[in-house]
Amino acid sequence: GKERKTGGLFPVERVRKSHLGEVDFSNLGFGKIFADHMLVADFADGSWQPAHIVPYGEFSVSPANSALHYGQSIFEGIKAYRDEDGAPLLFRPEKNYERFLKSAERLAMPPVPEDIFLSGMEQLISLDRAWIPEAEGCSLYIRPFMFATDAFLGVRPSGSYRFMIINSPAGAYYNKPVKLVVQEKYVRAFPGGTGFAKSAGNYAGSLMPALEVQRQGYDQILWIDGIQHKYLQECGTMNFFVIIGDTAVTADLDEGTILDGVTRDTVIALMHEQGLKVEERPLSIDEVLEAYRQGTLREVFGTGTAAGISYVAEMTYREHHLQFRPEAWTIAPALLQRLGDVHFGKNDPHGWCRRI
Ligand code: COI
Repeated sequence: GKERKTGGLFPVERVRKSHLGEVDFSNLGFGKIFADHMLVADFADGSWQPAHIVPYGEFSVSPANSALHYGQSIFEGIKAYRDEDGAPLLFRPEKNYERFLKSAERLAMPPVPEDIFLSGMEQLISLDRAWIPEAEGCSLYIRPFMFATDAFLGVRPSGSYRFMIINSPAGAYYNKPVKLVVQEKYVRAFPGGTGFAKSAGNYAGSLMPALEVQRQGYDQILWIDGIQHKYLQECGTMNFFVIIGDTAVTADLDEGTILDGVTRDTVIALMHEQGLKVEERPLSIDEVLEAYRQGTLREVFGTGTAAGISYVAEMTYREHHLQFRPEAWTIAPALLQRLGDVHFGKNDPHGWCRRI
């Protein structure tokens, strides 16, 4: 057949003709364009079938597909860059793999083997390396995901699943400082819920509340806990940080309401590197308001794979309006610079970049 072994672990069916030449790399945006190949692996009868790499393209599912009805669906987001010699660099993919396993467990889905997730990803990125943009700030956004494939309307964990990886070249993310609002009508995550998992349903539930605040002129929600209406969780789809005096504070992961962000973890390590104190603990809105009144609230930002570090320009809570001047900040801009360097494998003492 058309499938044949290449250098990698898994068989590859190559595209007849690459469509790389049709892509305008000066106008990539985010998540709209897809690289030539994708990885597919199916789980059935209790085991994973070998993965294969095929041309990117549509496929069909049953109308009774249980992921469509009951939402057994999880994903990851990882960025690849190229070093000075043009070699692909994956940023901390093993950290995403760990989180993927936790998401899978919470959604009653089978663990994807490491060779399919990590070695398969390396083989796919190596094959489509020409799709990694080279311009400053650009990257290849890697989207591994898994969904249920049983054609069955009973409510129970699916017996079969599909794991896939698709890749999307992404342009430089313009970090316009954002306007956040704390609203108390909608809640993103409760203790015991799925907040820590990167599950499709978490994002679905956030869409209508986000639209509602956008109609009021804000960019994103600063999510607050739903029991005491007191503790700050995340902003939009990002982890939330404040710098009060000489200490950075972000919500801890203990309750399972916060996504264990790879950029969150990276930024914490970089702050330690710079001698900044970091506290992972419950952070209340009252503490933030009080620091603002005292003049000790220095910088406020979100972290995520897609945007890196997103500065907060304004924050609204009930009748309180907080305003910031990111152009006068020093810590977050230094972190953003450092994050950019380490993504390109420059000064990487932690060995975060995986060169393939
Ligand atoms: C992030 O990287 O901030 C994300 O949550 C990814 C988003 C595209 C779902």
